[in-house]
Amino acid sequence: MDLGLSNKTALILGASSGLGFAIAKCLAEEGAQVVLGARQTERLDKALALVKQSNQTATALPIDLQNSATMEAAEQAIRKLTPDILICNSGGPPPGGAIDSDLDKWRLQFEAMVINQIRCIRAALPHMLEKKWGRILVLASSGVVAPIPNLVISNSLRSALVSFAKTLAAEVANSGVTVNTIVPGRIATPRVAQLDQAASEREKTDVASVKQRSVLTIPAGRYGEPGEFASVAAFMVSERAGYVTGQMTRVDGGFIRSI
Ligand SMILES: NC(=O)c1ccc[n+]([C@@H]2O[C@H](COP(=O)([O-])OP(=O)(O)OC[C@H]3O[C@@H](n4cnc5c(N)ncnc54)[C@H](OP(=O)(O)O)[C@@H]3O)[C@@H](O)[C@H]2O)c1
Repeated sequence: MDLGLSNKTALILGASSGLGFAIAKCLAEEGAQVVLGARQTERLDKALALVKQSNQTATALPIDLQNSATMEAAEQAIRKLTPDILICNSGGPPPGGAIDSDLDKWRLQFEAMVINQIRCIRAALPHMLEKKWGRILVLASSGVVAPIPNLVISNSLRSALVSFAKTLAAEVANSGVTVNTIVPGRIATPRVAQLDQAASEREKTDVASVKQRSVLTIPAGRYGEPGEFASVAAFMVSERAGYVTGQMTRVDGGFIRSI
């Protein structure tokens, strides 16, 4: 199936690692001109070099969603870039429970996970509306469907961005712009490996046991592969998915039990 991405420009945030990187690579392989966004330039350059192996047109855009002081320049760069496709993604917030989580952490993460992602979306939108073609895809977490214990900031703030996306989807649906959310269950990225490692150290057990316990909660019996997640994302932002908007698509091996 031709996804119709060969003449499209795609900006992928959080693209130097894990899910964002897999999406950037997949879209580049499908012929899109991809722009990889993230903070640490060394890691970004390495990711860019790998993506360029499949598509020489790839470029990088350093962007720090936690640093609001730099967001005006980032918005200008996005307006200049005029992406047809925007993937909203970033790093995960710190853990914490609802009773005692630090309010300053909430404020910082609200800027990074909600306000500054909305700023990116608003900077990309005018070009999409003018062209009467655009795709916005927000990466969330299973916590927006079934809140994950001890991840109150992630559960709450991702839900805010999902609601923003759903509201926006209806506002721009008749202009050829789709806005959707994609929800990973547990996908085998470097971050998930780090989380398993941290749990094994905390619990003084081996990492294989931690992973086995986690896998037992997934009907598919394994973690997802980043490439499997990226293929679904690529379809969601493709020409083919023009009548799919305001949706939340789960890529979770059956992990979320509710309908
Ligand atoms: N993997 C899963 O199964 C899973 C499940 C549920 C939710 N999620 C969430 O999905 C997102 C991506 O997950 P992942 O596993 O791919 O994580 P990852 O491997 O840690 O990748 C995160 C990416 O975001 C970038 N990033 C982090 N902070 C940023 C900031 N302030 N501004 C701009 N870019 C930033 C990172 O690069 P720099 O650090 O260089 O900026 C990196 O490229 C995370 O929010 C994660 O919590 C993942």
